[in-house]
Amino acid sequence: MVKILAVSGSPRDRTTNYMLRKVLEVFGDEYQKEIVLLKDKKIEACQNCKGCHRSFKCTIADDMQEIHKKLLEADIFIFGSPTYFDNVSGIMKNFMDRCLPFYFSEELKGKKVGLVSIGGFKELIEKDEKGNCLWCGETGNCKRTVERCLNSMEYFCNLLGVEVIGKVVAIHGSPELKDGELLELGKKLR
Ligand SMILES: Cc1cc2nc3c(=O)[nH]c(=O)nc-3n(C[C@H](O)[C@H](O)[C@H](O)COP(=O)(O)O)c2cc1C
Repeated sequence: MVKILAVSGSPRDRTTNYMLRKVLEVFGDEYQKEIVLLKDKKIEACQNCKGCHRSFKCTIADDMQEIHKKLLEADIFIFGSPTYFDNVSGIMKNFMDRCLPFYFSEELKGKKVGLVSIGGFKELIEKDEKGNCLWCGETGNCKRTVERCLNSMEYFCNLLGVEVIGKVVAIHGSPELKDGELLELGKKLR
């Protein structure tokens, strides 16, 4: 059975998880689906101990061991993070750093991924006196802040050899406006 693993980097169960669940909707019972909520896991920061460089194993005994196993077993991934200061959330970054063994082992190479992120910028209240967005610095281009977050996840996937099939940006804390794109992403991943 084809396995699909969604990983959420949101510290709460709101808009990022909405996006992940929407992408998952297009996968029927013939798929084994799972969402890992990083907020519920104990994941220490990478210690740069270099243990994984040759052994391809992480030396830290925490929940990331179990997640490594899930990543190896899955065929398709969906990674989602809220946009925090133009980047991924802290817990998503910890997850990414702790995937360093896969950079050396290349064991995830060839798997497919869809990436989603959402920003909460509220156009009407977060503009400077010139009308520029306080998050992205531009007028009417508030998705740039979220694109930067997605770029960070895309770069990570590129380094691991995981093929990015598509990305969905949502802004203003309104993920439902992107339902069509999220379902489309799911179809492309199948
Ligand atoms: C620490 C922090 C930094 C944030 N930085 C940004 C940002 O750079 N750009 C943006 O559009 N929204 C930013 N936001 C808003 C979140 O991206 C937004 O609320 C998002 O919908 C949260 O996703 P969630 O509902 O899955 O938690 C930030 C929020 C927090 C808590």
